[in-house]
Parts: sequence; structure tokens; C-alpha cells
Amino acid sequence: MLIASQMEPTYARTVYPCFDEPAMKATFNIRIIHDPSYVALSNMPAIDVSEMKDENGSIWAITTFNTSLKMSTYITAFVICDFDYVTRTERGNEIRIWARKEAVENGYVDYALNITGPIFSFLEDLLNISYPLPKTDLVALPDFEAGAMENWGLMTFQESSLMYLPSDKFTGRKAVIAITTSHEIGHQACGKQFGWFGNLVTMNWWNDLWLKEGLASYFEYLGATFVEPKLSLDKVFHDHVIQAILREDNEIGVRSLSASEDKIKGSSFLISLFDNITYNKGASITWMLSNFLTEKLFIRALNSYLRTFSFSNANQDDLWTHIQVVVDAQDEVQLPASVKKIMDSWTCQNGFPVLTLNLSTGTISQEQFLNKKNENSTDTYNNTWIVPISWMRNGSSQPLLWLDKSSKMFPEMQVSESEYDWILLNVNLSGYYRVNYDQLNLKRLARVLENDPKAVPAVSRLQLIDDVFALTQFGYIQIESALELTKYLAREDEIFVWNIVLLNLVPEILESTLKNYEVYPLLKKYLLKRMLPIYHYYAGLIRQNIDALENDYFAQVYLEKLFATACWLGLQDCLDLSSELYAKWMNSPEYNIPSLIRRTICCYGVAMGSDKEWNFAWDMYNQTNSTKEDKDILLFALSCARESWLLYSSLFANLVMEGSLPHFYRCGEEFLHDVLKVMAKFVIIDVQIQELQVFYNMTLEENEREATTALLESAKFENTERRELLMKVADWLQKNIND
Ligand code: BES
Ligand code: ZN
Repeated sequence: MLIASQMEPTYARTVYPCFDEPAMKATFNIRIIHDPSYVALSNMPAIDVSEMKDENGSIWAITTFNTSLKMSTYITAFVICDFDYVTRTERGNEIRIWARKEAVENGYVDYALNITGPIFSFLEDLLNISYPLPKTDLVALPDFEAGAMENWGLMTFQESSLMYLPSDKFTGRKAVIAITTSHEIGHQACGKQFGWFGNLVTMNWWNDLWLKEGLASYFEYLGATFVEPKLSLDKVFHDHVIQAILREDNEIGVRSLSASEDKIKGSSFLISLFDNITYNKGASITWMLSNFLTEKLFIRALNSYLRTFSFSNANQDDLWTHIQVVVDAQDEVQLPASVKKIMDSWTCQNGFPVLTLNLSTGTISQEQFLNKKNENSTDTYNNTWIVPISWMRNGSSQPLLWLDKSSKMFPEMQVSESEYDWILLNVNLSGYYRVNYDQLNLKRLARVLENDPKAVPAVSRLQLIDDVFALTQFGYIQIESALELTKYLAREDEIFVWNIVLLNLVPEILESTLKNYEVYPLLKKYLLKRMLPIYHYYAGLIRQNIDALENDYFAQVYLEKLFATACWLGLQDCLDLSSELYAKWMNSPEYNIPSLIRRTICCYGVAMGSDKEWNFAWDMYNQTNSTKEDKDILLFALSCARESWLLYSSLFANLVMEGSLPHFYRCGEEFLHDVLKVMAKFVIIDVQIQELQVFYNMTLEENEREATTALLESAKFENTERRELLMKVADWLQKNIND
């Protein structure tokens, strides 16, 4: 049994009477009366444990904690548990990591203990501030909804965010732990009288939540890459943070980062603020800020902000004021407008800009990046941003420029007649925007990639690809221009770039419908030719030296997608490898198929096999000691069978084992919706809609039927569009197949 609190954002009021708002800071004297066989933890160290007897004669322990520092209610906390801990002292701060006794005994929290001290010290040194509390507890909770919570001096974690199994060879999990721990430590405001963001300097009100979560989400990557230097900061930040949010922050309905105070009312609404806008956009804007200010000035300004507002509250304008003071006191970095004016354009407006280039004249213009195919999208929106433009000409970096109105001419950006004169913007994605190059420059970039891909930094290669496909999808450019940039891919050796390529070129929706189309054989030829080098590199390691992948973080996350695509495109070596490893497993069940590609290997092991392979998967599925993950992989593998009678067996197995009835109309509403969507994937002509409608009328309840008409209509529209796009892709591939 265990009790652990979670107060943020507004649950402190359900535990003790209080003014439960972030700006109402107080000191807290906490005393907990509990079963004596348990230990009680809170923000501060215990100063006394005594006993008392109640009227029934039962003995209780009373743990009294030291008076807390002045703090907000949402980071007060307590845990009552029978856990064990490991401990280490770093610069006078006693760090204890608590977890279930067996977990501690087996060394599951040793990794967390090893990195927590160094992350504290790293942030102390970076921000020039020291931690004031005499102790910090980190507790791994077996059942916790959030990933982790930054209670001051008593951080709580989901077990999976804090535990690392020493037997796990692959370090992907270490990255998750390093990132999460570093995020929560980032919140641990500190200093004899100063502090970091969150606990010591807190936002005035929840409208500025991003000040703590965005900043913590930025610093978590600095801390994590400090303790795990094999993780590349640029790549991981780009992959986890910027990519993810650019994909999401592109509709009119998406909120802006900061809203005015009076718009954020009502406690049930607050929880929805803990979203990707707060975390990822907040961190991306911080990344951009630190880039154009230089890290030196950014940290200097943060330090002054933290010192001024420690034990109190601030809003985003206070941060801008402190940065302004630092900027005004030097002359290396010149800004085109006040810090507030620049930053308001990013935090108070929704969305982000796309820059459109005309490099014959050197003109750059901006508009909000929105889907041009939606009729009512753009006209009423004339947001403009003050955009820092980092850029590169022919491979060398150029001085930062600013676009501070809707359109501006930059004579220094004009390109010459020479096809070797090219320009790259937003180098390393130091700004939160996309770039729409003109045809001329795009051609030249495609040529550079083919001749000398490393002339363009890896993160920019990824961004170039992602931008052109996003621009295609939103109607800015034709698909043919985007495809030009894929010609170089045989020379692309970074799997994290390949991941974005595959995401754009072979999205899941395409995978499940593509085989019917003309484009599959063409794509197979065009793409496989380019995938071979990176495929063989990794297949070689899988066969001979898998340990070499231990520290290759992106291989651990993305290898499966690469292999799944190679096999799906019918690459013989991939199919052979699957049969080979699957057979090895069948011959000696104690052999483990490399976990990084187990799903793909099992799927194609079954697909390439016959009933023998299918039955083996079925038996393994039914073994009592198979885990949830095993079961998930095996159930998927069963459905990969190619013989129709095996597929029928799979269908039966899926329905029975997943507990759903063979009549899908009896299943839950959510699942039903998924099923309907899958069926709608193939609808292109009205006759098909009518057929499905007849089927639904027979099988669905009346209330369930209503939504299906709209679903089918919109699916028809999407499918028709996709088909048109695919025909263009097919035409282009046909023309370029032999390149
Ligand atoms: N303060 C949050 C935890 C939280 C989230 C409280 C939502 C209330 C509502 C904490 O600092 C946090 O951001 N945790 C993240 C993990 C982190 C690595 C991004 C989480 O739980 O997802
Ligand atoms: Zn946080």
C-alpha cells in the first residue's frame, strides 16, 4: 500500500484548506500521522518521529517536517510508503532515490542515482546558482498518471521514467530517464536566495504556465545531453521537440502560447494547458531566443530574472524586461526591436510563419503557415512575426538577419547565375518557422545534396525534407519539387533523417492502401535503390555485431521503421533476414530476436513461412510467461500471414484473444469508430459508399449510423485527393526511375 500526493494544478485544496493559487506563496509546517511500519516523506527533511496511541490503543507514528521555504501550494507533497532507497550526497545535498524494495535491490534505480547529482551540479554551474534544500527525494511510483512531478524536494516519477534495468543493453531508456529527471530538476528552484524556473520563481497565473514548463523542457535537453554525451543535443531537440510541434501548430484553432490572464479561468480547464503548445512550442521559442541572443546573454538574463523574482512570481513580460536590460548593456548583439515586441510576436499570436523566398531579387516574405486548400483559411489572418534568419551561403555561415515586416529585400541574399551558388535558411532550425525556397534555389539545393550531402548540416537536411513535404501537403508547392530532394538519399547515412523521409514518403496510410496502386512497383524500385546502403549497414550490424548499436540512440528508436519499410517493399535480404532470425528463435526459444526490430522480424517470419511458423507464434502467444509486449508483437505477427486460411485463423485469434466479439457492431464505440475508418480507407466512388451504407444499415444501431455518412463522405474526399497525389508521384517516379 502506498499514498502519494499530486497537487498540481489545483488539488492541494482537496487535501488541506488553502488559497490554492500559484502566486499565493507561504511556508508550510507539515506533520503526518501514519502507520509506524511506513515511512513518511515530504518536501522538507523530517525533524522528528514520535509515537502516539489512539483511543483504540493502536500505535501511530507522527513524522514532523521542517518548515518549508516560501512556496506555492501546487508543489507541496507527501508520500507514505514502505520503499527502500539508495543515496548519495552531491555538494551537501542528500539525494535519495526511493522505489519498491525489489527494484532497489536489483539495481533498477542506480542509473537515476548516478545522474541526478551531476545534473544538479551542471544546472547550478550553468545558471550560477546553488541548491538551498538539504535533501532531495525522488520516488518511483508504480502507478502514476503523469511522467513525473517536480514537488520541491520530493519529486515523483512513474516507474518507467526512473528505472533502468541493468540487463538492458540498449540505452534508449537511459535517454528517457535522463530527460525526465533533468526536466524535473530544472524546476527545482534553488539558491541561497536565488532560483531556477518553477518552484522558486513561479508564474503569476496559469496563463504563463509555459514559463516554467517551456523553460524546463528546454533545459531538460541541456542536462540530459550533459550526462549522456552520446546524445546529440541538436538532433534530439529537433526530433523530440521542434518537429513534433511544427506538425501540430498549423491550424487556425490551435491556441497561442500565452493568453491573457482573464481568459484562463476554472480549474477543470487548467489541465488542458499542459499540452504540446506549452511544452514544445515553449521550448522551441526558448531555443530560438537563446540562439539569437547567444547562450551567454540568455543565461545572464535568466540569472538576473531568477534572482529578482525568487520566492515570488513573475509573468513573461518580467522575463523580457530582464533580457532587455542585458541586451542594452552590451553591443555585440543588436536586435531590430525591443525584446518584448519580438517575443510577443511568437508567444501572443497563434501558429508560425512560412518564409517565401525569391532569391533572384533577394526578397523574403512571410505569412502564417496554414493549409491553402482549406477555403476559409488564410485571408483573414495577417499575422506577422519578427523573424531571426540564420543562413548559410555555399556552406558557410552568414551574419544573422531579421525579417521584421511582411516582406523585405535582402540584397546580400541575391544569388548569382552560377548553379553552385546556393542559400540555406534557418540553419539547424534555430527559428520556429518553415521555409519555402524558390524553384531555382531548390534545384541547387537538390544538386548540393547529390554531390556533397554533408555540406548541409544533418538537422537542416531533415528540415529541408520535412518542409518541402509539409509545403506540398498544404498546397504551397507541387509534389514534384519535393520529390527532387529525395534523389540524393542513397548518400544519406543518418537514420534520423531517414525516419522523416519514410514518414513523408511512406506514411502509414499509404502502407495500408498502396499495394493496389500503380505507384508501389515504382516506389519499390526508386526507394529501395536509395535505402540499400543504410539498410545494409544496419543489417550487417544486426547479423554480426549488434552491440555496436548500444549507443546509437536514433537506431534504437527508428530502426524498426527502416526495416519494416525495407521488408514491405519486398527487399529480399530483409525477408531472408526475417526468416533466418525467426527460424533461429523457433529452433531455440531461449534465443532473443533483437528487440529493436522484433516486430518486423516476427511479422515477416510468419509472412514468409507457412503453418509451422504461424503455429509457433500462436504457441508463444499462449505461453503463460509472455509479457504484454510479447503478446502485442505476436498477435500482430499472426496477422501478417499470407495464406488466406491462416489469415482467417488470425482474425479469429485476434477477436477471441482481444476479448471482442466477432460481430463488430457489438464492440465499444471507440473501437467501432476505428473499424469504420479502416473500412472507409478504400472508398473512392459513390457506389462504394452506397455499398457500405447498406452494410451499416444492416449491422449498426440507428444512433451509430448517423455519423457514418459524414465519415464516408470525408473519406471519399481524402481518398480521391490522395489518389490524385499518388498518380503524380507515380508519373514523377516513372520519369526518374533510372536516375
Ligand atoms: N509539472 C509537470 C507534471 C504535471 C503535468 C502536473 C500535468 C500536472 C499536470 C512536470 O514537470 C512535467 O512536465 N512532467 C512531464 C514529464 C517531462 C519529462 C516533460 C510529464 O509528466 O509528462
Ligand atoms: Zn514540468
